[in-house]
Amino acid sequence: MSEQLIERQDNGGIVTLTISRPKALNALNSAVITELEQVLVSLETRDDLRAVLITGAGEKSFVAGADIAEMKDKTPEQAREFAGQALRTIKRLEKLPVPVVALVNGFCLGGGCELALACDWAVATDNAVFGQPEVLLGVIPGFGGTQRLPRRVGPAMAIDLVTTGRKIDAQEALRIGLVNRVMPQAELGAYVDELTKQLRSNGPQAVRGSKQAVHDGLDQDLDSALALETSLFALCFAGDEQSEGMSAFVEKRKANF
Ligand code: CAA
Repeated sequence: MSEQLIERQDNGGIVTLTISRPKALNALNSAVITELEQVLVSLETRDDLRAVLITGAGEKSFVAGADIAEMKDKTPEQAREFAGQALRTIKRLEKLPVPVVALVNGFCLGGGCELALACDWAVATDNAVFGQPEVLLGVIPGFGGTQRLPRRVGPAMAIDLVTTGRKIDAQEALRIGLVNRVMPQAELGAYVDELTKQLRSNGPQAVRGSKQAVHDGLDQDLDSALALETSLFALCFAGDEQSEGMSAFVEKRKANF
C-alpha cells in the first residue's frame, strides 16, 4: 500500500489533517498536493464537518515550502501548471464552510506560509519560523503569498518579507498578525482539546454563518457586506439552533446543538 501523505483524524466532525513527509520537512510536492486536494474534496460536502485543523508531521516543521528538488528543472509551462494545482487546492482549503486553523509546529516557509495564510487563523509553537524565502532561490512566491500576505499583515510588511526573504520567529509573526497565538510545543495538544470543546459547544450553523459573513463580506463594499450580514443573521431564526440556544440561556441550562 502506498504511504499516506495526508493523515486524517476525525474527532466528531473536527478533522485534523497532518501533512506527512517528515524526511523532506513536509515539503509540498505534486503527490502531497494531489492527495490534499482529494481529501478536501471529500470534506467539502460533509454536513457534519465542524472545523479543520492542519499541521505538519513531527516537531520540526509545519511545511518547509514547495518541493525545491521537484521544481528545479521545470519549464515555465510546468511551473504554471504546478502553481495552478497548488492554488486550486489552497483555495479549496480557504473556502471550506467551517473554520480552518493552521497549527504551525516548526518551519513555515514559502509554500508552507502560503498554506497557513489560506487558513482562517494560525497558532504557532514557539519554535516556529516563518518566511517567504523564494527570492533566495531566484523566484517569487507562487502559491498566493504575494496576495494573501499583504491582506493579512499589510503591504509594507509583506513587501519587506517577500523581497528580503528574511525569516521571522513566532513572536514576530504574532506581533505582525500572521498568527493569533504562540505557545510551547508541549501545550499544543491542550490548546487543540480546548478549541475542539469550544467549537463543539457552539451552534454549528452559526459557526458556518459567521465564517461566511466575514469571507463574503470582505469581497464587497461595506453597505453590501452589512446587508449580507443582516440576511445571514435573519436566516439563523429560520432554523432550530437559534431557538435552542436562546431557550437554553433563558432556562439557565447548557444549549444542546
Ligand atoms: N523542498 C524539498 N526538500 C526540502 C525542502 C523543500 N522546500 N526543505 C527541506 N527539504 C529537505 C532537505 O533537502 C533535506 O533533505 P535531505 O535530508 O534528503 O538532504 C531535509 O528536508 C532536511 O532539511 P535540512 O537538512 O536542510 O534541515 P535543516 O534543519 O538544516 O534546515 C530549513 C531546515 C531551514 C527549513 C532548510 O531545509 C531550508 O532552507 N529549506 C528550504 C526552505 C525554502 O526555501 N522554502 C521555500 C521553497 S520555494 C516555494 O515554496 C515556492 C512557492 O512559493 C511555491
